[in-house]
Amino acid sequence: MTAKFTAALTSAQHKITSHAETRLAGHDSLHVAMRYAIVGGKMLRGFLVLESARLHGVSKDAALEAALAIECVHAYSLVHDDLPCMDDDDLRRGQPTLHRKWDEAMAVLAGDSLQTFGFELLANPDMGPNALMLIQGLAKSAGKDGMVSGQMLDIAAETAATPLTLDEITRLQARKTGCLIEWSATAGAVLAGADPAPLRQYATALGLAFQIADDILDIEGDAEKVGKAVRKDVDAGKATFVSLLGLQAAKQRAHDLCDAACAALAPYGARAESLKEAARFVIARES
Ligand code: IPE
Ligand code: IPE
Ligand code: MG
Ligand code: MG
Ligand code: MG
Repeated sequence: MTAKFTAALTSAQHKITSHAETRLAGHDSLHVAMRYAIVGGKMLRGFLVLESARLHGVSKDAALEAALAIECVHAYSLVHDDLPCMDDDDLRRGQPTLHRKWDEAMAVLAGDSLQTFGFELLANPDMGPNALMLIQGLAKSAGKDGMVSGQMLDIAAETAATPLTLDEITRLQARKTGCLIEWSATAGAVLAGADPAPLRQYATALGLAFQIADDILDIEGDAEKVGKAVRKDVDAGKATFVSLLGLQAAKQRAHDLCDAACAALAPYGARAESLKEAARFVIARES
């Protein structure tokens, strides 16, 4: 990972965090909890939004609004994912999970309001003529045929009589993780009314690579660095890319997907270098 990419990602994190502080400025506990859920992550999805917006000449204000929107929806998905009825986790981004810091009711409600707030941001009249398509896309990517259905399949797989096949796990992960990543990487093209196909191809490969890296970190990662509990998947008997392929083949698959993601960016030439770096970051990350 180059210093240039680290600086670009850090700058995106600062911009999105400060935008969150402006847009969610309330002092009541719900606002405090919502901000708590948004900050401290890698903000990779928000970064993808900003980069795809830059590639398509989308205004910086609209791009930032969309970047915060996806980080809100992503944060909601994590807050609910950590609940005792789901993964029952105590640690997220090196901090107590939201239901541990407050309580379960707050985690349910902060998650709910993060989700609706994400859509509120996208419905801002300044988002331009293609905002509706972006809103519809996010509803689909996050909902019953997207992230939520992936979460449903993931939970169901824990008690399934037979382990999932590689095809099944790929479909599950494409929904659970891939859909929000795809929305993020294509957001700039959609807002600009441009063809999102190359970025969609990039994101499909990136999303799978991202989830394989998450599965590898669950096995090989250091909880301190990862900022969340590790070895949870094995303990839960979860079928993951690693459990199905083995560690070495999973790493190879992640590398191949990274190459495929980079190749998909060919139409953008050198202007997409930061997105290529993002793909390399996704498979090399330690958190
Ligand atoms: C974690 O996502 C959940 C998965 C989809 C695997 P991230 O690894 O992007 O989490 P943060 O936002 O950086 O904490
Ligand atoms: C959750 O996947 C992905 C979401 C849609 C929230 P995981 O359960 O694997 O994510 P982590 O490992 O807790 O971050
Ligand atoms: Mg989970
Ligand atoms: Mg989890
Ligand atoms: Mg995981």
